[in-house]
Amino acid sequence: MKSLTRPFKVTLAFCFGAAFAAAQSQTAKSLLWAYPVPDPAPPSAANNTPKTLPGSTRSYTQAQIDDQFNPPDWFPDQHGPLPRVVQTGIQAQACGSCHLMSGMGHPESAELAGLPINYMLRQMQDFKASVRKDPKELEASQRASRMNNIAAGLPDEEMHKALEWFASLKPIVWYKVVEADTVPKSWVNGGRMRLPLPTGGTEPIGNRIITMPQDPERVEMRDPRSGFIAYVPPGSIKKGEALVTKPAAGKTIACATCHGEGLKGLGDVPRIAGVHPIYVVRQLYNFQIGANSSTAGALMKQVVKNLSEDDMIAIASYTASLEP
Ligand code: HEC
Ligand code: HEC
Repeated sequence: MKSLTRPFKVTLAFCFGAAFAAAQSQTAKSLLWAYPVPDPAPPSAANNTPKTLPGSTRSYTQAQIDDQFNPPDWFPDQHGPLPRVVQTGIQAQACGSCHLMSGMGHPESAELAGLPINYMLRQMQDFKASVRKDPKELEASQRASRMNNIAAGLPDEEMHKALEWFASLKPIVWYKVVEADTVPKSWVNGGRMRLPLPTGGTEPIGNRIITMPQDPERVEMRDPRSGFIAYVPPGSIKKGEALVTKPAAGKTIACATCHGEGLKGLGDVPRIAGVHPIYVVRQLYNFQIGANSSTAGALMKQVVKNLSEDDMIAIASYTASLEP
């Protein structure tokens, strides 16, 4: 089964390219960096030597690391027994392959560590019911199929075990936010992660947030201790702080009112401090255009109604700079 799905995915990746080009001419055009879609790979040498991480007794080849049905568990002694669905998946890929065993995830997925269980349960129901998905123009790229299909195919009991597991984990500092006019040239790999181009070079940041691993080699090994850099346009953090903490009347609502002090979460309202900034932009935009039309998300509608794309960039730059 596994060996059949992989070549199939590679073929699909080429189709996504075409669909993506079409999508680019429609709305959300300027925010597509927040919804990474694979680029053609630059040439690189395949390497099958087993890899190791400092402090871990395990070793894996890159092929084993990329096995989404049995992703690496580098530090098994540092957590309790893994639920099966987190380690190997049941009908779809293992949760741990995209969200990591640490629950910290990658910019193209999401952080789950320490989120309230009732919040996550609601998200799984919303994914399943397709009231939370990616913007329409990106559906052709199959982006939307990931959590929507995963949630739809997951037996309730396994879902509970996975969510209890992720809720029990402690989030760590995962981002260094850097204001910059220029950023390293980059490409998006088959797993939708943005990486620096091996040929180097820089380009203007424009109105974008560019997230890249602090150490690409370790992040590609799914190292649960190696985080990301977010390059953000100059001035974003301060502008974001003002929008988040003391917005002008009618612009938006101070986030701490519902997300709690330090934006660390309050009751069932999730933590947004220290979260992947391109993830935050995706969610704000999804609420604004109705790609997320969930009942609980209705509270966010008022918050995002009058936000421009630049406002969203500023807000996400600031929230990413906070301690989780
Ligand atoms: C193929 C990659 C992939 C796998 C496997 C995966 N997820 Fe996700 N998950 C994602 C992506 C991508 C998002 C973010 C979607 C978005 O940007 O709106 C996400 C989001 C979520 C969220 C919402 C987080 C939030 O803050 O609202 C939850 C909860 C979640 N996943 C749970 C799970 C569980 C449980 C499993 C295992 C059964 C799992 N995921 C497996 C890719 C994956
Ligand atoms: C009136 C209450 C309220 C205010 C004010 C509010 N939020 Fe929210 N927010 C929520 C609720 C409730 C959810 C969860 C919705 C759900 O369960 O689907 C949420 C979800 C989110 C999410 C998605 C989190 C995730 O893990 O997917 C983001 C991002 C977010 N809010 C950002 C903000 C920002 C930024 C501000 C301030 C500019 C803000 N919110 C102000 C109530 C609020």
